[in-house]
Amino acid sequence: MERSLTMELVRVTEAAAIASARWMGYGKKNEADEAATSAMRKVFDTIPMRGTVVIGEGEMDEAPMLYIGEKLGLGYMPEVDVAVDPLEGTNIVAKGQWNAISVVAISERGGLLHAPDMYMEKIAVGPKAVGKVELDAPVEDNLKAVAQANGKDVEDLVAVLLDRPRHAKLIEAIRKAGARIKLIPDGDVAAAFNTAFADTDVDIMFGSGGAPEGVLAAVALKCLGGEIQGRLVPEDQEQFDRCIKMGLSDPKKILRMEDLVRGDDAIFAATGVTEGELLRGVRYQGNQAHTHSVVMRAKTGTVRFMEASHRLEKKPNLVLK
Ligand code: FBP
Repeated sequence: MERSLTMELVRVTEAAAIASARWMGYGKKNEADEAATSAMRKVFDTIPMRGTVVIGEGEMDEAPMLYIGEKLGLGYMPEVDVAVDPLEGTNIVAKGQWNAISVVAISERGGLLHAPDMYMEKIAVGPKAVGKVELDAPVEDNLKAVAQANGKDVEDLVAVLLDRPRHAKLIEAIRKAGARIKLIPDGDVAAAFNTAFADTDVDIMFGSGGAPEGVLAAVALKCLGGEIQGRLVPEDQEQFDRCIKMGLSDPKKILRMEDLVRGDDAIFAATGVTEGELLRGVRYQGNQAHTHSVVMRAKTGTVRFMEASHRLEKKPNLVLK
């Protein structure tokens, strides 16, 4: 893939973040999502690639744009798989909480698992703890392994989980083991990649969340040298059949990094929409918007943070309120 695509992808997430952050605190998650999606779609039209959406806003008949199978880009090489979540954390923006981001990932064609819209059990860790955790291992064992790898006591660890009733047993086990817990309202992509940044003080992410979000997190962690393991959680026969149709002969198998994102190369970009541990949210001032993004590439392992100021009157294409 072309190195220059890293810069191009940041333009995509910046536009989506600027458009959706305007909705912060308005209690309108759909409007925030639509603004992000529409802005993202427009910028994709300017990018030199032949992309196919494999993780998007839904099937063709459900989503007006960025639907699965949609072709993106100017239509010449390279040919890539595209995964998008224009607004990861729609409720977060509606309520003005922490860690909403706009996210894009690309891989060589055929590189990304076409994860269906269902839950996935997940465990994610940063580079030091790679190979030390197992999705099915007892919680206490995983915590001990991460503590040793990260040079901390179990009591010092921070485990992040979505605040959901389905995680009650997991939370109880983590408390029993003695680790500290951060329960987040939404946004497990940021929670997963935060494990790879010591400054965020997040050591491990547990629990089930969206399967598409699992693939996005896998691209980020591949670039960062971390690890996520996942297992799809089909809730009925229809969801089970969907897994088979997408080529998973055993839908209950543990999906490892190479199952989630194949090949040597992949690029991940995210821009903060609301404030987070890693990325600042969008700040507006007069006719300017300031953004904070991270973009990284698996092939080289380069991680770039980018702050940008945008003159909004020069970006008439952005969908602003
Ligand atoms: P949206 O941005 O689509 O609202 O998703 C946010 C999110 O919290 C994801 O980060 C997470 O993977 C998923 O929803 C969890 O789903 P649920 O809210 O059903 O537990």
